[in-house]
Formats: sequence, C-alpha cells, structure tokens
Amino acid sequence: MRAPQTGNEAISPQHTRQATIVSALRLWRRLLTVRSTFPIAILCVVFGLSARAEDAENASQSSVQAKISYCKDCHGPSAQGYRGYFPIPRLAGQQPEYLENQLRAFIEHRRTNNIMFNVAHTLSPSVIAALAAEFSKFNPKPIGGAPQQLAAAGKKIFEDGAPDENIAACAACHGPDATGSGEIPRLAGQLYPYVISKLTNWDKERGRNPTIRDTSAIMSPVAHSLSKSQVEAVAAFVSDLK
Ligand code: HEC
Ligand code: HEC
Repeated sequence: MRAPQTGNEAISPQHTRQATIVSALRLWRRLLTVRSTFPIAILCVVFGLSARAEDAENASQSSVQAKISYCKDCHGPSAQGYRGYFPIPRLAGQQPEYLENQLRAFIEHRRTNNIMFNVAHTLSPSVIAALAAEFSKFNPKPIGGAPQQLAAAGKKIFEDGAPDENIAACAACHGPDATGSGEIPRLAGQLYPYVISKLTNWDKERGRNPTIRDTSAIMSPVAHSLSKSQVEAVAAFVSDLK
C-alpha cells in the first residue's frame, strides 16, 4: 500500500513558484527593516519596473524592425520581390490577412516551402501580425520584366475567364484591379516567374495538411484548368499592374 502523500511529495511547479514568491517576500521584508536603505529601495523598485516595461516595448518594436530587414534580404529592399535562382514573391501592398494566413500555412505545413518554414516557425502571432501590417503599407513599382506581348491575352482571361473551359474570371475573386481582399491575395505587381510557378505547382505546395482545411481549395480548380500558355499570359498581365 502506498504511504499517504506528505506535502513534500506533492511539490508541483505551482508550489515551487509559490515558495519562490514567499522567500522573495521574506527577503523584501528584511530589506525594509534596514531603515537607511528604505527610500532608496522603494525608488529602485518603482523606477526599475517602469524602465523595464519601456524596454520591453522598445525591444518588441526593434525586434519587428530587425525582422523586417531580415525579410528584405530575400524579398527585396522595398519587398518588391526578387528574381534570383528561384523567384521570391513581392510582399509589398499585399493584403495583411493573406500574409498572416500564408505565414501560418507555412508553420502548419499547409503550404510547403522549406525556406519559409524555417523563417516563419520562429515568429510569434503578434510579430506575424505586425509584419503583415507593415508590408501591406509598402508601395514600390512592379519590377516587371515579363514578355509584354502576352499581356493582352492575359487581360482577357483575368477579366472574363474562359467560360468554354470552365475557367472563372480572376477578377471575380482577386478584384478588378487585382489588389485582392482579405485572404484572397493581391496579384498586381507579383513576379511573372513566381505566379507561373505557383499556378503550375498548386497541389504540390498548398493544402498539404489534410487535418486543416484552408483557403487553397478555393483556388485549386482554377489552377488545374489553366493551360501552360494561359498561365503565362495571365502572369504577364498581372505582373505589370500597379
Ligand atoms: C532566405 C530567403 C527568405 C527570407 C529571409 C524570407 N523569405 Fe519569405 N519567401 C522566400 C521564398 C523563396 C518564398 C517563395 C516560397 C514559394 O515559392 O512558395 C517566400 C514566400 C513568402 C510568403 C508567401 C507570399 C505569397 O505571395 O504567397 C510570405 C508571406 C513571406 N515569404 C513572408 C516573409 C517574411 C514576413 C519574412 C521575414 C520574417 C520572410 N518572408 C523572409 C524567401 C525568404
Ligand atoms: C473563386 C475565387 C478565385 C478565383 C476565381 C481565382 N482565384 Fe486565385 N486565389 C484565390 C484564393 C482564395 C487564393 C489564396 C489561396 C491560398 O490561401 O492558398 C488565391 C491565390 C492565387 C495565387 C497565389 C498568389 C500568391 O501570392 O502565391 C495566384 C497566382 C492566383 N490565385 C491566380 C489566379 C488567377 C490567374 C485566376 C484567374 C485565372 C484566379 N486566381 C482566380 C481565389 C480565386
């Protein structure tokens, strides 16, 4: 038979915390009895605490600024995107809800990309919200570079879709100016090779965590229906929109 529990055996983290608080209070009372240091001790505590609160606020603001410059190392100095070995998307002017949802998607393995998983999984929800709010305010010109002879055909697909092939007009969801709304992304100014790569690889990269439903399913049938030349045309059209 087990012996009845004594107080000592039942030590939980909460008890440990309480014990720490109790001994801190004892120390504090002992300090108070030293008459000459009493006012100084009070002053230290009062000013020490308020200085620490200010530090915490500055630290979070400066850590968001530090993150932003880290993001810009890859996404470009105004987050306008970067055409490197692989295309890095424009974040500037993007809908904040979309940015937040995608950062969570990388973390939750709904969207697969090793680079962005490594970047995103260290970000707290409040930092994610702050970054999304900041990048949505950026407004650089599109970096361009798409074959412009394709843009006219792309404009038609964007505005009217291709009813015969069951392709919905992009404008119906992404908005007449391709600026998006909420969790539907802005496409205006998005990099030509990035848009092509996303539309071509949709199901390999998105909606990858079957335990979590996500917004990628809304876009999936459209991505499937587009032919290679339609993808190129519509990507050329949106990439130059301001
Ligand atoms: C080492 C390079 C690198 C860094 C640093 C980086 N990114 Fe990325 N990011 C990428 C790449 C590459 C992609 C494209 C992934 C893909 O093709 O699906 C991407 C995609 C994204 C997307 C998806 C955009 C879209 O249109 O769907 C978001 C959002 C994003 N990054 C936010 C950030 C933020 C915020 C930071 C800083 C905290 C950051 N990234 C830092 C390389 C980087
Ligand atoms: C029924 C609504 C709907 C229609 C129609 C639609 N989209 Fe989308 N699209 C979405 C949603 C929602 C997302 C976000 C998906 C996610 O969360 O992964 C998206 C995402 C995208 C992305 C990814 C952007 C990025 O930054 O990674 C591209 C590219 C895209 N759509 C292009 C198009 C094109 C081109 C058309 C027209 C041929 C089109 N879409 C039509 C709803 C739609």
